[in-house]
Amino acid sequence: MGVLAAAKQSMRRHNLFAFHEQYSLTIKYYFCGMETVVSGIRSTGHLHLGNYFGAIKNFVKMQHQHRCYFFIADYHSLTTHPTPEDLYRNVRQVLIEYLAAGIDPEVATLYVQSDVPEVAELYLLLNMNAYKGELERCTSFKDKVRTQPDNVNAGLLTYPVLMAADIIIHKATKVPVGKDQEQHLEMARTFANRFNRMYKTECFPPPYAYNFDEELVKVPGLDGSTKMGKSGAEGNAIFLADDPKTIRKKVMRATTDSGPAQPGEPVSPPVQNLFNLMGIVSSQETVAHFLDAYKQATIRYGDMKKQLAEDMIAFTAPLRERILALDADEEHLRKVARLGAEKARESARETIREIREIIGFSSAHTG
Ligand code: TYM
Repeated sequence: MGVLAAAKQSMRRHNLFAFHEQYSLTIKYYFCGMETVVSGIRSTGHLHLGNYFGAIKNFVKMQHQHRCYFFIADYHSLTTHPTPEDLYRNVRQVLIEYLAAGIDPEVATLYVQSDVPEVAELYLLLNMNAYKGELERCTSFKDKVRTQPDNVNAGLLTYPVLMAADIIIHKATKVPVGKDQEQHLEMARTFANRFNRMYKTECFPPPYAYNFDEELVKVPGLDGSTKMGKSGAEGNAIFLADDPKTIRKKVMRATTDSGPAQPGEPVSPPVQNLFNLMGIVSSQETVAHFLDAYKQATIRYGDMKKQLAEDMIAFTAPLRERILALDADEEHLRKVARLGAEKARESARETIREIREIIGFSSAHTG
C-alpha cells in the first residue's frame, strides 16, 4: 500500500475524515513528500549573482521535486515609487531572467504578484494582527528609516506582512531565499501561527527559509560591502545580463588592500569577499592556487581579479545569451505570464475561500 493510501486508511480508522476533507491538499503533499515552495524577487532592476546564488539556483533545483510557486514581487517594488514605464520594464526583465536561469513555466508556477489580487486581500487580513512594535523592530525597516528618511511609507512598515501573505496564500512550507530574508521568514511564521491560534485552526503550516546547502547564502559585493545588491554602490553587483567588458571593468575595480607584506598575514574583509566570490564561480583548484599565493605573500590582486572576471564571464555567458533571445520573444513571455497567473490564482482562491469562512465573512455562507 502506498504512503498516501495508508495515511487515508489510518485517518478513516481514527475518524479523522472530516479533518481529511478540510486539509486534503496539505495532507496529500505532506505524505507524498511534495511540499509547497514559494519565493519571489522584487522587480527593481536586473538580477545579479547574489539573487542567483542566494535564491534562483535553489528554485531551479526545487522545481522538479516540489509544488513550486515563483513570482515577481511587483507590489513590493512599489515602495520605491517606480514610474509605470519602469515598473512594466522591470517586471518583464525579471520574468525574462527567471526563464533564462532555467525556471520551467510548465513545471513550476511562474507569475506576477499583482496578477493575483487574492494576495492583497490576505495582506489586509493579516495586517489586523500585525503590530506596530514588531514591525518597527524589523531590521530591514530600520535600515530603510536610516537610508531613506524622506520615504518611510506604510508599505515599508508592513512589508513583512505582504511577504507572509505571498507565502501562506499557497500554504508553503519551504521558502528558498538568501540570508538577508531570514528575519522576514521568522515574521511570516509568527503571522501564520498567530492566525491559526486566533481562529483555532491549522490552516497555515509554518514556512521556513530554505537552502540546499543548509546554510543560507550571502553573496558579497565587489565594493568591499558584505552584500551584493541592486541598490548598492555602482560596481557592487555583477548582473546576469552584464556583457564581458562590463564584468571585467567592474571586477578590476573591486576593492582590495595593499596586499600581505609577509607570509601568514590574515585576510582583510574586502579580499575575503573576493575569495568568497571566487568560491562560487571558480574551480576549487583556482581558489586554492590564489589562497596559497596569499599565504606565501606572493599574490598579485591584478591576476586574481583577471581570473575572477573570466570565471564570472564563463558562468554568466549562457544566461546572457538566453536573456537576449527571450527579450525578443514577446509572445512567449505573454503566454508564460498568463499561464502562471491562472495557476497561481486557482491556488490562492482556494485559500481565500477557506479563510473567509474561518474568519466568518457572511459572503462565505451566501456564496
Ligand atoms: P530581493 O528581490 O531583494 O532578492 C531576491 C532574492 O535574492 C536573494 N538575495 C541574495 N542572496 C544572497 N546574497 C545576496 N547578496 C543577495 N541579494 C539578494 C534574497 O535573499 C531573495 O531570496 N522580500 C524579497 C522578495 C519577496 C519574497 C516574498 C521572497 C517578496 N515576497 C515571499 C520570498 C517569499 C526581496 O526583497 O528579495
